[in-house]
Amino acid sequence: MKKPRIDTSRKADIRAVCGGSGSGKSSYVKAELKRLKPPRLIIWDPVDEYGEVATVRVTTCRELADILSRYPHGALKIRFVAEGQKNFEFWARCAFAWTNAAVVAEETADVTSPSKAPPNWGQLVRRGRARGLSPIFALTQRPAESDKTAIGNATLIRVGRMARDADRKMMAKELDIDYRILTGLLPLDFVERDMNNNEVKRGNLTKRKTNLVETKAI
Ligand SMILES: Nc1ncnc2c1ncn2[C@@H]1O[C@H](COP(=O)(O)OP(=O)(O)OP(=O)(O)O)[C@@H](O)[C@H]1O
Ligand SMILES: [Mg+2]
Repeated sequence: MKKPRIDTSRKADIRAVCGGSGSGKSSYVKAELKRLKPPRLIIWDPVDEYGEVATVRVTTCRELADILSRYPHGALKIRFVAEGQKNFEFWARCAFAWTNAAVVAEETADVTSPSKAPPNWGQLVRRGRARGLSPIFALTQRPAESDKTAIGNATLIRVGRMARDADRKMMAKELDIDYRILTGLLPLDFVERDMNNNEVKRGNLTKRKTNLVETKAI
């Protein structure tokens, strides 16, 4: 039987990664990409920081669309180095149409707002799994200022050190933990909640060991 074009067998894997500058978000994502080695990858890379991940770097919507259309199936890792909501939405639409790939969106607070997700980004997060888009990493320094679609649909929420009280309080609620735990985090520390089993763990990016964190529900 002919293999269906879209691989819908993948489990939903949407990771909302929050934390202040230098908290370790991008380092975590890069380490995960190294571990998972997705053959197809599409990155929204506004500050041009994914050079160490072997990718084709494109800077215009036309280049992005051209290259993706030449690789409907095969292995390709690509990053779009651009800014602004218009470009971000174009990128999200392209990723959704491309199918079967890992997705990374850097700093969603710069290109979304707390009120409503831009339509293509919303679609990518909500319906990405049915297009074989997995894992999807959504990163932000400022979750309180970002749209909530990624957090609302996340299978994993990961929070690093955050400077702002509003962000810590909001994310403590999402993790269902005492917000003072987040106040005590150092750079590269993280707390993450696996939404599949509601387990909350604390760790540090440089160490293998993690500890369970007590949630308020317990
Ligand atoms: N395993 C490691 N051991 C030591 N230092 C590390 C390790 N991984 C990352 N770092 C350092 O920690 C810092 C984390 O930076 P990273 O770019 O991941 O933060 P970020 O959360 O993405 O910040 P920003 O929001 O500014 O992009 C960097 O200076 C990086 O070099
Ligand atoms: Mg970063």
